[in-house]
Amino acid sequence: MNLNIGVIKGDGIGPEIVTEAMKVLDQVGKTYGHTCDYTQLLMGGASIDVHGVPLTDETVAAAKSCDAVLMGSIGGDAKTSPWYQLEPSKRPEAGLLRIRKELNLFANLRPAVLYDELKGACPLKEEITKGGFDMMIMRELTGGLYFGERRTVEENGVMTAYDSLTYNEEEIRRIAKRGFDIAMKRRKKVTSVDKANVLDSSRLWRKVVEEVAKEYPKVTLEHMLVDNCAMQLVKDPKQFDVILTENMFGDILSDEASMVTGSIGMLASASLNETKFGLYEPSGGSAPDIAGKGIANPIATILSAAMMLRFSFDLDKEADAIEQAVSRVLKEGYRTIDIMSEGKQQVDTEKMGNLIAGYIK
Ligand code: NAD
Ligand code: IPM
Ligand code: MN
Repeated sequence: MNLNIGVIKGDGIGPEIVTEAMKVLDQVGKTYGHTCDYTQLLMGGASIDVHGVPLTDETVAAAKSCDAVLMGSIGGDAKTSPWYQLEPSKRPEAGLLRIRKELNLFANLRPAVLYDELKGACPLKEEITKGGFDMMIMRELTGGLYFGERRTVEENGVMTAYDSLTYNEEEIRRIAKRGFDIAMKRRKKVTSVDKANVLDSSRLWRKVVEEVAKEYPKVTLEHMLVDNCAMQLVKDPKQFDVILTENMFGDILSDEASMVTGSIGMLASASLNETKFGLYEPSGGSAPDIAGKGIANPIATILSAAMMLRFSFDLDKEADAIEQAVSRVLKEGYRTIDIMSEGKQQVDTEKMGNLIAGYIK
């Protein structure tokens, strides 16, 4: 099979971690008889440096013509990078938001799994992590605060900033269906997270989620307020199967969930629309503090590539092969610095990629 993959290496650690994911994909291609045809695309700071904007129309069109896009991360250090001298709509993050909207990538799946082998890197007590945990965060990605009206004005000499949070019932229904669909393939529990004790948008969210739940009688639905959810993720992460939530809550909760799996460097993600197309990227950022040092963890990006094989190309065996290779490398005790613990062997980004590629069976 020929895999037509767009590649956005991005900024900071982006190029370092994407290089390793491509290495693993190429090995999968060799082992299973596929060819990966890569189209390099510029987005974020890398695009600003060349085109003056974080995403061009041509790049959007080129991304649309690919079967899937693999991405590293975009952005820089807000204090020191010249990209942040630009107006907000021209900064790196604006490119990411635009591509999500243009490609209608409303469903963001972030699987937080505590690998048995990584218990040493998890900051939680052993009695909490015993038996591991495995949750899927289903984050709405094209609505809410990220895409509401935004302005900063001076009113009677006082600066005032507005960001509006809007959801319509159709946007809620389609993400809720995705959440329940995925729960049907898992442990059949959906925890819908909102702030219905304060926000109208959350009250509508809860109502629509209840309606959708009626179509899935086998799935247990519970509602949880977001502040409680943030606490429960640390207290008892095992209780969660699918967490269904809106854009901003999902952003925050997924970073929190990543840490209980050991590191943000472990958290893969898939951003999907109604077709087979998807944008696959680690959930973390460009990590300016470690960029260029060759020490970033490439596993989230490699696992995102596995999600790409599974969702966009229906190559389940190949995706399994990547996940098993990651598992084996961890079992053998190899660790990047972010997941390092006593008695393990520290490796750099490139070595981690080589080891995983080498274990593709
Ligand atoms: P970040 O996720 O980049 O970094 C937070 C911390 O996690 C840092 O200490 C970093 O070193 C560490 N980290 C992140 N990924 C890692 C990895 N793979 N291996 C080891 N350690 C890792 O978050 P931030 O510092 O708040 O943001 C930096 C920039 O990244 C900002 O410009 C932000 O907008 C952008 N960002 C982009 C994306 C994306 O492209 N999807 C996601 C989040 C943040
Ligand atoms: C993420 C990132 C983005 C988001 C930023 C870079 C706009 O934090 O993918 O989690 O908030 O969605
Ligand atoms: Mn985030």
